[in-house]
Amino acid sequence: MLHSVCKDTSKTDIREERDMKVIIINGPNLNLLGVREPGIYGRESMETFLPRLRKRYAGMEIDYYQSNVEGELIDKLQETGFSYDGIILNAGAYTHTSIALLDCIRSLRTPVIEVHISNVDGREEFRRNSMIAPACKGTIQGFGLDSYRLAIEALSAL
Ligand code: DQA
Repeated sequence: MLHSVCKDTSKTDIREERDMKVIIINGPNLNLLGVREPGIYGRESMETFLPRLRKRYAGMEIDYYQSNVEGELIDKLQETGFSYDGIILNAGAYTHTSIALLDCIRSLRTPVIEVHISNVDGREEFRRNSMIAPACKGTIQGFGLDSYRLAIEALSAL
């Protein structure tokens, strides 16, 4: 469950993300971030991005998992999808093809935010279709690695 603490500051509620446990799940080829097509995905790897993200959201537990294998992504979603407070999923190319991921996300209790580093709507036609979007809480795309941070903001505001 979300454990947001609301402090009464007369007009404004300040939400604290303490106690939230979220996981970023990255799909195929996202292990190559920083190396892979830097003109599209940038030059930073998850290895340097994650510590900065964790520092910024120090009250949150931010786990990370990456796999190139569709079934392993499903296993991780099932493993975390009933106990975590939020899942940030970049399913990579499986976004556009995987009914299995769609069915999996539909089965979970934990909200899933679909994330893309690039603006998939501005690229090839086949990237405009997301199989998983109907099962996700929402989609954040096109902001580079900052898309992951924006997804954390979205989760903490749920
Ligand atoms: C991606 C976009 C997908 O179309 C592509 O297959 C990826 C990365 C992104 O983060 O922009 O692997 O999900």
